[in-house]
Amino acid sequence: MSKTTKILIIGAGGQIGVELCIALRKQYGENNVLPTDLKENHPQLESMGRYMQLDAMDGKKIASIIDTEQITQVYLLAAVLSATGEQNPPLAWDINMGSLLNLLNIGKEKKLDKIYWPSSIAVFGPTTPRQNTPQRTIIEPQTMYGITKYAGENLCAYYNEKFDMDIRGLRYPGLISYKSPPGGGTTDYAIDIFHKALAGENFECFLKQDTYLPMMFMDDAIRATISLMDAPKEKLSVKNSYNIAAFSFSPEEMATEIKKHIPDFTISYAPDYRQDIAESWPQSIDDSQARTDWQWKHAFDLSQTVEAMFAGIKSMSDAGA
Ligand code: NAD
Ligand code: SER
Repeated sequence: MSKTTKILIIGAGGQIGVELCIALRKQYGENNVLPTDLKENHPQLESMGRYMQLDAMDGKKIASIIDTEQITQVYLLAAVLSATGEQNPPLAWDINMGSLLNLLNIGKEKKLDKIYWPSSIAVFGPTTPRQNTPQRTIIEPQTMYGITKYAGENLCAYYNEKFDMDIRGLRYPGLISYKSPPGGGTTDYAIDIFHKALAGENFECFLKQDTYLPMMFMDDAIRATISLMDAPKEKLSVKNSYNIAAFSFSPEEMATEIKKHIPDFTISYAPDYRQDIAESWPQSIDDSQARTDWQWKHAFDLSQTVEAMFAGIKSMSDAGA
């Protein structure tokens, strides 16, 4: 008899975790997915079922939850993102590396079936080709966040190889969503802009008008994550983290798209330290390996994303969220 898949999500209270929890529960059942986060309370997750406080650095508690809940897969989403990481680099190193190393050692000891750990386009740096950035290329990240993501990718590949584990990852581009707020990234402007537009306020952008970055709607990112985790292991030729992509745009192009819905919308530009981060990242990504290995294909383009964002924010506010 095949054993039941039981999933622990660590860092579930953020932008990706809330939506991933909803999607995984749809697939595996509410009682088989346990969302946890450092936050003592998380009203949104608590309103949807079981929720537990858990520090990603607390190896003893993680090991004990894996035993008592008979966990077979862990998704580790807890992290300090790029912009917050540049404000406090030692914290970014400690949390991003400490939590991963902890989990890899626990996963090895407990013989977890699978681990998911997300990487980012932030692994790439100024010496990487910026257009159609290949899966395998020069990788010299300039931010502490990018350094931790690249080190983490290599750690995952090492544990995969040395200890015959199954650890999978995606290099997400900037993710655009409305169900849960973003947590301190350089791409967060592409979410804040919608809230200002709907409030009838000017949006002051912290990036220059022509700063192109790869982006993706959250529905696609969640679908990609679950497709990768469901793919047969023998199909996966990349042992660290797959490039995935949908579309790229600049703040100016996003503003033009928003004006199609809100003609009076205005944007101004006041670039800050995040401009340097954005300029060190690719403008577009070649994700052909993911498309070949596990048939990845994005569904949302820029205009569909903008429509879905306006509809989603309105429905959340109508529901009183
Ligand atoms: P987020 O900041 O929105 O959420 C992270 C969550 O982790 C937060 O709820 C936070 O409370 C929690 N957390 C922080 N420290 C913790 C700890 N010590 N123990 C337990 N929980 C802790 O981030 P996100 O956007 O959901 O990102 C999730 C993962 O995906 C991260 O690894 C991030 O680097 C990666 N990623 C995100 C994006 C994006 O655009 N959102 C892009 C690329 C990669
Ligand atoms: N969206 C993320 C950030 O800006 C990329 O990993 O930090």
